[in-house]
Amino acid sequence: MADHFLHISDYSTDALWDILKLAKKLKQKFRNREEYKIFNNKSLVMIFAKPSARTRVSFETGFEWMGGHALFLGPNDIGIGKREAIKDISRLLSRYNDLIMARLFDHSHIIELAENSTIPVINGLTDYNHPCQVMSDIFTIWEARGSLEDLKVAYVGDGNNIVHSWLHLAQKFPMEFVCACPENYEPNSDTVNGSSGAGVSGVSVSHDPTNSVKNTDVVYTDVWASMGQKDEAEMREKIFQPFQVNGDLMAATGKNTLFMHCLPAERGREVTDEVIEADYSIVFEQAENRLHVQNAIMVTLAG
Ligand code: CP
Ligand code: NVA
Repeated sequence: MADHFLHISDYSTDALWDILKLAKKLKQKFRNREEYKIFNNKSLVMIFAKPSARTRVSFETGFEWMGGHALFLGPNDIGIGKREAIKDISRLLSRYNDLIMARLFDHSHIIELAENSTIPVINGLTDYNHPCQVMSDIFTIWEARGSLEDLKVAYVGDGNNIVHSWLHLAQKFPMEFVCACPENYEPNSDTVNGSSGAGVSGVSVSHDPTNSVKNTDVVYTDVWASMGQKDEAEMREKIFQPFQVNGDLMAATGKNTLFMHCLPAERGREVTDEVIEADYSIVFEQAENRLHVQNAIMVTLAG
């Protein structure tokens, strides 16, 4: 079976650091538009069952810069799991391509895709996790702080796919990680227990945003209703209101804290304009770094 990139927790700390260090080199090369045609004559197939701006554009731009060809398959193209069995799609694409990137709903579908594929599969988000995002996030924090020592991250909002990838990361990189969320919107309890059980980081779940952000280096948030949950948006808006990241919450950190968001943001809901536009907001550095970190992941898997 090929090596895949499905969960951060599948990799050792050293292997994750290798990806971050490679991303740093590739970022410099990309910014200088140096030639780096490592994927000449190769193809990346990208399956999107959900919408995307960052993931699609960064993978496609990155792979083409590295000399390859990227193909986009949207929600109506192959009907994964509907028109055709996942294991058939997987074996088919393995015959044509060199890499698969997939953004799917059901997490078990990306596992099935990978299990039947003879080429590497990269997880571009499922309902359960978003590993490429959180690898880019930690890279961005490393760049911004110059080090990952004594790191505290406070995630405020829904205990969703982003949080699960942070919990996986906390199994490998020492940090204090708290998820402040409304009751009944906690992250998956097995994932929380697996993360704290690894004994690497201090991991907790709280329902008190103001207390959770005290003395934190990073405040991170994401939409209150993820893709596939948008019909709950109105109902969630009331429940999540006390978890909005606004100027008062940022002031409650008591220090110079960075603001992060995976984007797309729903301004005025989970984050105010004031915060997302502030000097301490590094959301576009995060978004840019998707490209460089994913390039490093693709080179690691198939370069
Ligand atoms: N952050 C992120 O994955 O963005 P897209 O949904 O636009 O790809
Ligand atoms: N939690 C969000 C992340 C988007 C990048 C979603 O799944 O819609």
